Amino acid sequence: MGYDKRQATEEFARWSRSYDQSVLQWLLFGPSHRAMIRRIRDRFGDRPIRVLDVGCGTGVFGERIVRSLPNARVFGMDLVSEMLRGGAARWASHEGTICPVQGDSEHLPFAPGSFDVVTCANSFHHYPDQGRAVAEMHRVLKPGGRLMLIDGYRDAPWGWFIYDVCVETVEGNVHHCSRSRLRDLFAAAGFVETEQTVHRGPAPFLLSEGVARSASTLRRPHIAVSGRAARPVASAD
Ligand SMILES: C[S@@+](CC[C@H](N)C(=O)[O-])C[C@H]1O[C@@H](n2cnc3c(N)ncnc32)[C@H](O)[C@@H]1O
Repeated sequence: MGYDKRQATEEFARWSRSYDQSVLQWLLFGPSHRAMIRRIRDRFGDRPIRVLDVGCGTGVFGERIVRSLPNARVFGMDLVSEMLRGGAARWASHEGTICPVQGDSEHLPFAPGSFDVVTCANSFHHYPDQGRAVAEMHRVLKPGGRLMLIDGYRDAPWGWFIYDVCVETVEGNVHHCSRSRLRDLFAAAGFVETEQTVHRGPAPFLLSEGVARSASTLRRPHIAVSGRAARPVASAD
């Protein structure tokens, strides 16, 4: 049976209270966040940037971004309200700099061309329609904006054992993409100059980065990003 959003919602609603104390913060999430922040800094330096973090959880990564890159403004989006509520104190202490939004990776509630960077950390393997999610990430990026996606690296034997055997046993039929599958998804969505970096260690991960080729013309109701807050607007013409 395929992984579905109900399963993700139940899993993360249960996990939301203890999520920030999980050993995975130390083993996997922390190192992956540091790799992503180094990459954002390499690409953008200290320029003001607008970041969408898809699958943001309780906002640990968003907080790390704004602490390391003071000119970044972050929208943290997650499917599961309980995860967003778990980060309530964090959102409050960074009000005006990080904005939490509830939404689905396959239907991003933002206008085309809203962001300089879309990040997605340790979340992509939960998405039932990964092609649709990458296309949405492309749509909300400005032309020349960058998608940085990090997730477990399962192509070598140790990574395969951790992600395809152990994680699937615990989480169900989640899907960690191979390096080549991610390249294909990026290309199909319109990303160019895709670069991929493997980070080895006890829990290896893969950072895939692509540049958005052109603005998308998809139209649907969404939230326009302006100033500090997200506001609902009608479809763009
Ligand atoms: C392992 S956590 C990672 C959280 C955070 N990105 C980090 O690195 O600490 C995965 C997150 O993805 C979210 N998620 C799962 N499916 C999603 C979807 N379809 N759209 C948006 N978020 C989703 C979960 O609710 C959860 O908060």
